[in-house]
Amino acid sequence: MAKAKPGPQVARLVRAAKAAAAKAYAPYSGFRVGAAIWTDRGLFTGANVENASYGLTNCAERTAIFAAAAAGARRLECVVVYTPTPGATAPCGACRQVIFEFGPEARVVSCCDGKERIDTSIQALLPGAFGPADLE
Ligand code: THU
Repeated sequence: MAKAKPGPQVARLVRAAKAAAAKAYAPYSGFRVGAAIWTDRGLFTGANVENASYGLTNCAERTAIFAAAAAGARRLECVVVYTPTPGATAPCGACRQVIFEFGPEARVVSCCDGKERIDTSIQALLPGAFGPADLE
């Protein structure tokens, strides 16, 4: 299963996600999110980028994944999400779909400033997902 895979060093990704959250552009919600991902092209990070139109807001996870894809990455192994909150935050539905596109077996870890840590997989977060294989 995804959890047992070697490669991604989660502690390193947690540090990177925390650093990325400092770059969040969140003037409307004030909710800062950082993401760090491990891909076939290495580590990428992202933060949430909000917009005055609200609906065009991009979550930290998708910012990181789109940066990786635009740099040529095609395989996503691990996603770490950090929020400076007492509890951990799971990726939204849109981000789950985008994670599945590149990492159908990806490990997904959510961490925060409290003790809670969610360590799961995209398969658990998005069961029965629609994905690239459905278009073959
Ligand atoms: N957000 C993320 O960046 N990732 C998540 O997993 C949940 C939500 C952002 C979007 C928006 O800028 C703010 O958090 C509040 O929803």
